[in-house]
Amino acid sequence: MRMYDIINHKKNGNALTEAEINFFVSGFTQGEIPDYQVAALLMAISLKGMNDDETATLTNAMQNSGDSVDLSAIPGIKVDKHSTGGVGDKTTLIIAPIVAACGVPVAKMSGRGLGFTGGTIDKLEAIPGLRTDIAPLDFQAIVREIGLAIIGQSGDIAPADKKIYALRDVTATVDSLPLIASSIMSKKLAAGSDAILLDVKTGSGAFMKSLDDAIALAQAMVSIGTKSGRRVMALVTDMDTPMGQAIGNALEIEEVVATLHGSGPEDLTGICIIFAAYMLVLGGVAKDIEAGKEMASEAVTSGAAFAKLKEMVTAMDGDASVLLSGFAKAKHIVPLTANSDGFIFHMDAEACGMAALSLGAGRTKKEDEIDFGAGIILEKKTGDIVKTGDILAYLHTNDEERIATAMTILTAAITISSVPPHPVKAIQAFINEAGELIALGG
Ligand code: URA
Repeated sequence: MRMYDIINHKKNGNALTEAEINFFVSGFTQGEIPDYQVAALLMAISLKGMNDDETATLTNAMQNSGDSVDLSAIPGIKVDKHSTGGVGDKTTLIIAPIVAACGVPVAKMSGRGLGFTGGTIDKLEAIPGLRTDIAPLDFQAIVREIGLAIIGQSGDIAPADKKIYALRDVTATVDSLPLIASSIMSKKLAAGSDAILLDVKTGSGAFMKSLDDAIALAQAMVSIGTKSGRRVMALVTDMDTPMGQAIGNALEIEEVVATLHGSGPEDLTGICIIFAAYMLVLGGVAKDIEAGKEMASEAVTSGAAFAKLKEMVTAMDGDASVLLSGFAKAKHIVPLTANSDGFIFHMDAEACGMAALSLGAGRTKKEDEIDFGAGIILEKKTGDIVKTGDILAYLHTNDEERIATAMTILTAAITISSVPPHPVKAIQAFINEAGELIALGG
């Protein structure tokens, strides 16, 4: 088999065979196929697409390029959740303790943030002492004992995806639907859970800016999961405006704690209860979504979900006392005020993420150090009425020099208008296990 023929095949719009896909994935992972040939193939895939079978085959080839986690020693249906990433998205840290408190084990590997999106692992590492580089056997032991662990990617998970993604990043081929779907699902399948709930974001702060693209991505990922024998469902959710009020690592952990105490922002609390309900259905402990919502709400009200988060933090060597005492505040906390009267018409989520990044809350390069105390607290959200001089947000940073740029970005991110915005539903679509779009809105 020759790489030249595989590139030509795809360039002419043909479906690749399983043998062709396995050839290029294993050859590239082992360093036998040069970057320029794989880059050409990725561009051909970007332009000509892939059908469902090709996408599933590519996923399996990338999954099988490395280790898979074996969670079979943990009793029960293990349920995972994956979000395509957003701004202020701390939902995993709220939902996973709720679900675990209801008796469904959650053994989750999460990622770090890059660019304007935050990563769950960075947020967790804001907790003093907490280790996210936990060895596979210790990871399983924690889940067996307390029903919950969220760690960084351990072992050699989908190395083919790592190499291919690095090439996509520099060849303008990141935004190809089959490449995104196979990249995400190769890692999710390797992570070993029996069921997966996908949160596919749409809007200004998401990869998929349009609802149609987000639905297509969700359907492609559900199809891949189902073909691999997992139970997978997807919710398509709004990421046009940041989630909750906090953006930035320690600030988001404080919001997680508030939400688990029942005093979090309404938008965040609502979506977390719904997500937890779907996971409880997938985990086989709730008969339907309504029953799941009741169980999830009860886990918050009773304090069981917060207790579960504390147990996990302690098991991962973190100082759980900070969850109640709060984090040290950043040295500089500066308000941004409204310069006119009206409604908050739009709050560009991506730009809010960029403002938090420029305060030190994220990284532009993998090696960058994060300022865990940096970020933004949004005092107003889309749809709120404001008057000139009202505080819209507080910018937090330990580096005074970063404030001016962040202020400029955040000011431009918030549009105030004399007319109210159209209300946008938090959940815009649901894709069931058969890949059908069965509900819009709700
Ligand atoms: N996240 C991934 O893991 N891969 C992609 O291709 C896009 C987002």
